[in-house]
Amino acid sequence: MTREWIRQRKRDPYYRKAKAEGYRSRATYKLKQIDSRVRLLKKGGRVLDLGASPGGWSQYAAERVGPGGLVVAVDLIPMDRIEGVTFIQGDISEKDTRERVKEISKEFDLIISDISPSLSGNRTLDRGRSLALAWEVMSFSGEVLRKGGNVVVKMFQGNEVDELKEGFASGFRRVDNIKPKSSLKRSIEMYLVFRGFEPSTEG
Ligand SMILES: C[S@@+](CC[C@H](N)C(=O)[O-])C[C@H]1O[C@@H](n2cnc3c(N)ncnc32)[C@H](O)[C@@H]1O
Repeated sequence: MTREWIRQRKRDPYYRKAKAEGYRSRATYKLKQIDSRVRLLKKGGRVLDLGASPGGWSQYAAERVGPGGLVVAVDLIPMDRIEGVTFIQGDISEKDTRERVKEISKEFDLIISDISPSLSGNRTLDRGRSLALAWEVMSFSGEVLRKGGNVVVKMFQGNEVDELKEGFASGFRRVDNIKPKSSLKRSIEMYLVFRGFEPSTEG
């Protein structure tokens, strides 16, 4: 953390808003803005939050689904407890982590992934890693998403976005690219929103 980074963060309106409203991360507003645009979170919904720590998205999801809903959060690193959220520490690429999720539910209404690779600074390499992680998220979604369900997945802008769409769009009713206004302009991140899952009838 450099001094300049700390100064920029203090000036950031979403960082301040998150502090004031009791959210653990400014990232919360990215999900909020996506949700206000495409209405994904509903009372009683079952949500899987991948790459969840420190927990801003999980906090918001738990609020929106309410006590009758389910929120399962997964991350490589620990997360402090959130009321109404079941946390699994593990790597989403690993079978053991996926099995632990499946023991809780195989019928999520919504899967949200804010997973980021650790950045190398080499944009080509980072975009490739981001695609590999998003691919993992989408293939796992095929195992635990209910028919008609939705997925939000973070990607880094580039040709890789089209690659992911080409790989998975046919399994959904529609796909949209969204860059929420709280996502910093200088950041190459964006989100793909896949809606209306249609599981393959083959096999
Ligand atoms: C940008 S943060 C998520 C912030 C979160 N959405 C929030 O609102 O607080 C990205 C997270 O992805 C996690 N992550 C990266 N690779 C992962 C993997 N393979 N499996 C699980 N989590 C992963 C990181 O540990 C990190 O906590």
